Amino acid sequence: MTKKILVLTGGGDCPGLNAVIRGIAKRARREKDWEVYGSIEAFNGVLNEPQEIIRLTGKRTAGIHVKGGTILKTTNKGNPIKFPLPQADGSIKFEDRSDELIKKLKALNFDAIINIGGDGSQKISKTLFEKGVPIIGVPKTIDNDLSATDMTFGFQTAVQIATDSFDKLVTTAESHHRVMIMEVMGRDAGWIGLHTAIAGGAEICLIPEIPYNINKLVKRIDSRYKHGRGFANIVIAEGAKPKEGKITAGKAEKGSEHVRLGGVAFQLSQQLKDAGCKAEIRETVLGHVQRGGTPIAYDRVLATLFGVKAFELALEKDFGRMVALKNNAITSVTLEEATKDYNFLQKDSYLVKAAKGLGISFGD
Ligand code: F6P
Repeated sequence: MTKKILVLTGGGDCPGLNAVIRGIAKRARREKDWEVYGSIEAFNGVLNEPQEIIRLTGKRTAGIHVKGGTILKTTNKGNPIKFPLPQADGSIKFEDRSDELIKKLKALNFDAIINIGGDGSQKISKTLFEKGVPIIGVPKTIDNDLSATDMTFGFQTAVQIATDSFDKLVTTAESHHRVMIMEVMGRDAGWIGLHTAIAGGAEICLIPEIPYNINKLVKRIDSRYKHGRGFANIVIAEGAKPKEGKITAGKAEKGSEHVRLGGVAFQLSQQLKDAGCKAEIRETVLGHVQRGGTPIAYDRVLATLFGVKAFELALEKDFGRMVALKNNAITSVTLEEATKDYNFLQKDSYLVKAAKGLGISFGD
């Protein structure tokens, strides 16, 4: 009897999502009796009337591993457990639609569901699994902030994009003797920021895990200018904050699961001036370019292997698990484990110590 698997992508997009989808579809085709389907915009494709579910045929998935984004589209406003419903007065009411979703999934006769998404999406996977849904998670996020996997796909591509931009800012900083501040993504974790700072050779790296002292930063910048025409390059993660006061440039977006960050580069610039920094400062906010475009080879490989593994877990009926990379091997963990801890950069990690050894200041 033919078996059916449903694939979906939820939360923010990330380079490599299409490679996972293709990995699942290709691996499934090796088994004669499986059909692969995709739900458009996370679970909304199942919840919406009319439903938006497409068959992931060989034609639809051929060659998509090189494409950024997700052919299945995505949303961060589709949590079935806390579904945002816009009200007539403009406010948003949240409703639990998980039972409705489960009923609809049952009616569609899916034997397995693969939910590709970050922390929020895997929490949804866990709740649905506890309610009896045969689900498997695939971790994704450019932020690399999931603790149960050594790395998420998309992260290395984001670091590459940020490093390429950083390199360009270095030459103009040097020509104009300026301080360049480059803001990268990373709402709670500084992985993109620190990897970019090391790859690019930044003088200062500011990350959410290490609140900074503005006077220490001014001192570090001054040291770069003491022999005449200096220049300095700073990487700041969007979620970085000073020891005193707060500068999370955030706007709440209706129905979204998180506050929208972005703009700390400008606030840091002002703080530096207020603290006596004399150098000319320019700010660049990289934003969503870090999430777009074609995944680099590393991410394509990781995403493809995650896709193959996720399908194989479905084949073995090993539900309630999330695929993961551990010690360079593709494996899986329970959804419980997958959603337990956050992957913060540890202050005493070798990565931070090595960065300090290179003279990178965190302002701490
Ligand atoms: O979680 C990944 C991420 O890229 C964060 O670094 C960033 O804060 C957020 O997504 C942006 O989300 P959105 O696309 O909703 O603006």
